[in-house]
Amino acid sequence: MTASANNSDTALAALDQRRSVPARQLAPPGPDEATLLRMLQSAVRVPDHGKRVPFRFIRVAGESAVRLGEALAALTLARDPDAPPAALDKDRQRFTHAPLVVVVVAVMDPADAQIPEVERLLSAGSVCFALLQAAQALGFGACWLTGWPAHDTQAQRLMGLAEHEQVAGFIHIGTPLQDAPERNRPDPRSLLQDLVLGE
Ligand SMILES: Cc1cc2nc3c(=O)[nH]c(=O)nc-3n(C[C@H](O)[C@H](O)[C@H](O)COP(=O)(O)O)c2cc1C
Repeated sequence: MTASANNSDTALAALDQRRSVPARQLAPPGPDEATLLRMLQSAVRVPDHGKRVPFRFIRVAGESAVRLGEALAALTLARDPDAPPAALDKDRQRFTHAPLVVVVVAVMDPADAQIPEVERLLSAGSVCFALLQAAQALGFGACWLTGWPAHDTQAQRLMGLAEHEQVAGFIHIGTPLQDAPERNRPDPRSLLQDLVLGE
């Protein structure tokens, strides 16, 4: 086998082994500062039409994860005073399962008339996926979650997002407690069609 074939086997194996680890299965330790920055270095290498860098990161860990959960539960209770305790607990724990959550923020400059917003959003989404891959490459587990706080204006303000920003994803990162289960994957043969145009 040639060296380049060997390299591509390794690269494909890494891609093919990528899978999510559920947030509840992500335990300490999480990545330290240097390791997180190394992951982000890979994650920011996404295609980016117009080189707009339409993303940024917010680190949620430790006390800030607890405080954010409390604030989300308070929001839920303010909206629905009859909210069941289980729902409030779920909100409290949203960011505390894994030792680290990286909020990938899509920065959507409204004055940008040149690059369609969907393209900038796709770049931010690509960062989420690249971060999952980088975390796994460094021996961590990760998963990409959203839920109501990603799409709720008041929750977005709590996290410090500006009006023109959206949550692309909450990337939960930690040490897997056990091997993540594999799931059935789509068969690309059933997804691929040739374009057939009439004359
Ligand atoms: C934008 C986006 C948001 C998601 N949000 C959630 C979520 O809130 N809860 C959830 O259980 N899975 C969510 N998922 C799915 C998981 O990230 C993951 O893809 C799924 O558990 C399957 O695992 P896999 O990544 O190994 O295929 C989301 C995926 C994407 C792309």
